[in-house]
Parts: sequence; C-alpha cells; structure tokens
Amino acid sequence: MSSTGRKRAQLALLPGGEYVRHERDYYRTPTWCADALLLREPIHGPVLDAGCGTGAITEVLLAHQVGDVIGMDITILHETSSAPELQDALLLVHDFLAEDWERSWRPLLPAVHAVVMNPPYNQAPDFIRRALDLVEPGGKVCALLRLNFLGSSRARMDLVGYDCDLRRVYVLGARPSFLPNGKTDSAEFAWFVWERGPAMGWTSQATIEVIPPPARAGGDDDERQLELPGGADDEG
Ligand SMILES: C[S@@+](CC[C@H](N)C(=O)[O-])C[C@H]1O[C@@H](n2cnc3c(N)ncnc32)[C@H](O)[C@@H]1O
Repeated sequence: MSSTGRKRAQLALLPGGEYVRHERDYYRTPTWCADALLLREPIHGPVLDAGCGTGAITEVLLAHQVGDVIGMDITILHETSSAPELQDALLLVHDFLAEDWERSWRPLLPAVHAVVMNPPYNQAPDFIRRALDLVEPGGKVCALLRLNFLGSSRARMDLVGYDCDLRRVYVLGARPSFLPNGKTDSAEFAWFVWERGPAMGWTSQATIEVIPPPARAGGDDDERQLELPGGADDEG
C-alpha cells in the first residue's frame, strides 16, 4: 500500500467528504515537523516513539541516526511493521498508559534516554508523565502539542508550572496538517521538551524559540483552515 493509502486507512471519510477523528486519535505527523525538532534538539538513543502509529516520527528518528529507536502503539497496522523504512526499529504493541507497565512492557525495553512523540491529545498529560517516569535521569521527553497546552493548565501545573522539568518550547511557525487533504485546524503547535531533572525539579525556566515556517508547508493559508471535530481545547 502506498504511504498515502496508509494515511487514508487511518482516518474515517464521511459521505460528505470530511475527515473525522480516528477512534484512538491517530494523526500522522508531517516529516518536516519531526525534522524541525531533530535539527535543533540533540537526541540520542535509545529513543521511544510512544504512540508511533504508522511510524512517521520513528522514520525521522532513524533518518537522523539517533541510535536505537523503539516504536510503541496500542495498535500497529500490518503495513507499519512491514514498512522497509522501519526495518531498523523495534515495534511493540502495548498500552503505553497501562497501569502494570513496569511489569508488562518496561522489562522489554533497554534504558530509554528520550521519548519523542505526538501523543493523542486527550491523553497528552498522562503520556508525558509516563514518559518522564520512563526516561533515565537527564533523559528527554519531546512532545508535539498544541501551544495552548501552556495555558488554562491548572490540571497540568506539574508539567508546565514553576519548578517543573519543561526546558524548551519550539513553536512551529506554520500549522502542520495531519490530514490527507492537507487542511489544518486553527491550533498552533509546538514541540515541548522536558528533561528529567532532580527530585525537587529545576530552578530555571523554559526557553522559547519560534521555528520559521518551512518553504511551501501549506499550513498557514487561512483559506484552508479546517475546524476539526472536538475543537482545540480537549487536552487534559
Ligand atoms: C496523534 S497519533 C500519532 C501517530 C504517530 N506517532 C505520528 O506521529 O504520526 C497518536 C497515536 O497514539 C496511539 N495511542 C493512543 N492511545 C495509546 C495508548 N494508550 N498506548 C499506546 N498508543 C496509543 C494511537 O493509536 C495513535 O497511533
């Protein structure tokens, strides 16, 4: 199946021609988004792509030669595990948020130095907390999130508030499209980078960098904006 075919297989297409959310919040990350992070943030393996889907981020991690890469998803399509670009990755089918993770899937992994992921938006805080528990001290957790993850965050102060492990925020200068038709929603996105720090947290604060839009990314044309079902505010 072509890569376009794989993407379409993950998104339901209504009779009216509108794409709706996959039941597990699957969206394929555009390559330029993952490139934007890896061109700025030093990352070395072993790296886990949590919620790897069809392996968009895993592929970019491998292309950047970060070392060992492990992809994990609660469901992995046959086409994913047989994709030639992913032959150097270890792919696991597990629930990243499983309560018994330390017994069920943790023993299958080596020491993980970094987690790089585009988590399902409605579970993003739990994915980040689990990733921070997983990485070794000094390890990184990089998550592609809507920029408003920073605001209205009473329930996420452990992740964005004072003394948390958030170190850098790379704001994407163009809105990525996660849909096969190239449309974007009205949300701005950023890579958030946490570094697992000492028990009492870090004392300094995160830095912000705005990444220039890629040439012809197609994400900043207002006439092509698409409001997705569920809106932009459904993070925990
Ligand atoms: C937004 S998609 C990102 C897919 C892929 N990483 C990418 O960037 O193209 C989120 C992915 O998380 C997976 N997922 C949802 N809940 C999960 C869970 N509890 N454990 C592992 N994966 C999960 C979904 O199946 C989906 O593939």
